[in-house]
Amino acid sequence: MNIYGKRVVLRAMEKSDCELIRGMFNDPEIEDLVVGWAFPVSAFAQEKWLETHYNDQKSFRFVIETKEDGPLGIATLTDIDWKNRRATHGIKLANKAHRSKGVGTDTVMAIMKYAFDELGLHRLDGSRFGTNEASKRLYDKCGWIDEGIKREYVYKGGQFRDLTMMGILSSDYYSLIEKTHYWET
Ligand SMILES: CC(C)(COP(=O)(O)OP(=O)(O)OC[C@H]1O[C@@H](n2cnc3c(N)ncnc32)[C@H](O)[C@@H]1OP(=O)(O)O)[C@@H](O)C(=O)NCCC(=O)NCCS
Repeated sequence: MNIYGKRVVLRAMEKSDCELIRGMFNDPEIEDLVVGWAFPVSAFAQEKWLETHYNDQKSFRFVIETKEDGPLGIATLTDIDWKNRRATHGIKLANKAHRSKGVGTDTVMAIMKYAFDELGLHRLDGSRFGTNEASKRLYDKCGWIDEGIKREYVYKGGQFRDLTMMGILSSDYYSLIEKTHYWET
């Protein structure tokens, strides 16, 4: 089942998305903003990656798409722990021109709706660098709580960076949508 926000559709990755995903792995600007890291990825390696990264019981990776602009980036629910009912979430929009236009907010809202209303999860985890202002604003707006800092946790650009750990409980999400009427407007 595809997942619908108010503007975005989150759908499974297809072979035709390989160049979009490869572009994000190879982009130094995105690499600097996200916690993960990648070697330069060839077209061949990207196709191989896709072969082992289809959606299964443990991990979902969705392409974020809008009607107007087509595929824009990816959103993930990984390390799904069905016993403790939690998962880790991440998001990347490939092109700067598509950022700061509400796509991130609608995607995180749709991910939470799916995680809590459909999968029955209890909490989601995420993390960001203290310097990633867009990410901070996005997750604050979507009701996530900063839960602590892992000091000097990620090595990038010649230094160890602190990592802010964030989380949201299903109850936080339900309070947020009751307060903002997100799905009703
Ligand atoms: C982080 C990211 C997903 C946000 O998505 P987006 O579509 O730009 O976010 P939205 O347009 O929904 O904006 C959400 C909030 O962040 C703010 N924001 C967006 N870009 C911003 C920026 N560059 N600086 C400061 N605030 C910013 C918006 O103003 C909005 O807050 P507001 O409604 O209070 O004004 C996107 O910037 C991105 O993909 N960045 C590169 C990868 C990345 O950093 N991923 C997250 C790693 S933790």
